[in-house]
Amino acid sequence: MSPTAPAGYRLTEITADRVEEYRAVDAMAFAEPARDPATDLAVPFAVPLDRAVGVETDGGELVAVHGSYAFHLPVPGGEVPCAGLTWVGVRPDHRRRRLLSTMIDAHLERSLGRGEPVSALFAAEPGIYGRFGYGSAADHVRLTLARGAALRDVPGSADLTVRFETLDPARHEDLVDRLQIAAGTGRPGWIARGSDALRRTAVADPAAWRRGGEPARLVTVHDAAGEPRAYAVLRRTQTWADGGAAYPVQVRSAAAVGAAAAHRLWSFLLDLDLTSTVTTGMLAVDDPLLALLADTRRPVPRTSDNLWVRLLDVPAALAARRYAAPLDVVLGVRDTLLPANAGAWRLVTGEVGADGAHGAHVERTDAAPDLELDVRELGAAYLGGRSLSALAAVGQVTTRDPAVLHRAATAFGWPVAPVCPWVF
Ligand SMILES: CC(C)(COP(=O)(O)OP(=O)(O)OC[C@H]1O[C@@H](n2cnc3c(N)ncnc32)[C@H](O)[C@@H]1OP(=O)(O)O)[C@@H](O)C(=O)NCCC(=O)NCCS
Repeated sequence: MSPTAPAGYRLTEITADRVEEYRAVDAMAFAEPARDPATDLAVPFAVPLDRAVGVETDGGELVAVHGSYAFHLPVPGGEVPCAGLTWVGVRPDHRRRRLLSTMIDAHLERSLGRGEPVSALFAAEPGIYGRFGYGSAADHVRLTLARGAALRDVPGSADLTVRFETLDPARHEDLVDRLQIAAGTGRPGWIARGSDALRRTAVADPAAWRRGGEPARLVTVHDAAGEPRAYAVLRRTQTWADGGAAYPVQVRSAAAVGAAAAHRLWSFLLDLDLTSTVTTGMLAVDDPLLALLADTRRPVPRTSDNLWVRLLDVPAALAARRYAAPLDVVLGVRDTLLPANAGAWRLVTGEVGADGAHGAHVERTDAAPDLELDVRELGAAYLGGRSLSALAAVGQVTTRDPAVLHRAATAFGWPVAPVCPWVF
């Protein structure tokens, strides 16, 4: 590997015999609880070994690790091969010696070598990844709703039936995966779990994860033909207070295909006996539930950053998505880590597809840039969830021509908010 590690360290591939060491480094970095055999059985190790890389000392002790998943990242109007960066950890006694920086260099180079024009991640702390060109590209919201919160009517909801059962990984893995993929059709960022190990993790429920709550339950909503149209994985926790039962309901994940199924699902979840509140999992900021709630003021929202996106191959990445309006713009891009991206790129939209959006052609140009920005800001705007105008308002995008900025912000925007519904 060509990236150079600091003196005393070297990058190393992770072979099967070093997986336990790899996991031990990550466990130290993240203060993981001690592992137990039942959890290991239920939650498979999911990082592909040909994408797992570490840093060891000259003496051969592994002290830093990372890995990536081979994803297809849904982008506005399409999808793009994407390296999902994960399992990033440096032992506390080796931190701040540029080991993460070394690993990021390796990650960028290897991802590009595999033909992945984009990388994405969830950040453990928001201060880490901007310096490496990752931009915060999406938010999610979690709502805590009072039992009985009213929903606006949706025709057909009452015709759907509901089943409530104990989550069974072997039986429900496929159903949960299919419904989740179907529910996010057309939504940027909605990454499908691309491997058996990740699909299994989505329905795993080892006792160590229950924290005093019941085993995970599965709610499914079915149409007249018995076809599942929505699901939720949830856990209630027995809680008796002075006023009586006040069980919280924690929804781990939920997805619905169509408004009637969403209405039926949430109506059921909001009316469980003995419960007091329902806390949702990660929702897009325009999730259908928000439009269904009769009272949007009372639920307590918690908003947080979701996907961070890094463009590794700027022209390939920009050409892989579609644009909401016609555009002819020259982008002046700064990229200190990947200089091949730096400089002026002309983006010209072309044909209009059935979705009304425009494809684009991107090429090098000598023309003066209309907009200047760091690759980080391009990553932030890439999924259509952050406005170039908003970034310009705080100086992160600059232009001499407000009209061009307005047109570019409109074209880069997208009517469906990006979100990834699960953390990797
Ligand atoms: C976060 C972590 C991976 C950083 O590793 P590291 O080897 O110490 O990072 P580096 O020495 O390469 O630091 C590179 C730069 O990032 C900065 N940085 C590192 N961690 C940071 C953090 N948590 N917040 C803000 N800045 C951070 C460093 O100060 C340094 O800045 P500089 O270039 O201005 O000098 C490591 O501290 C760790 O494992 N933390 C716990 C687990 C974790 O959060 N993992 C990330 C998962 S998404």
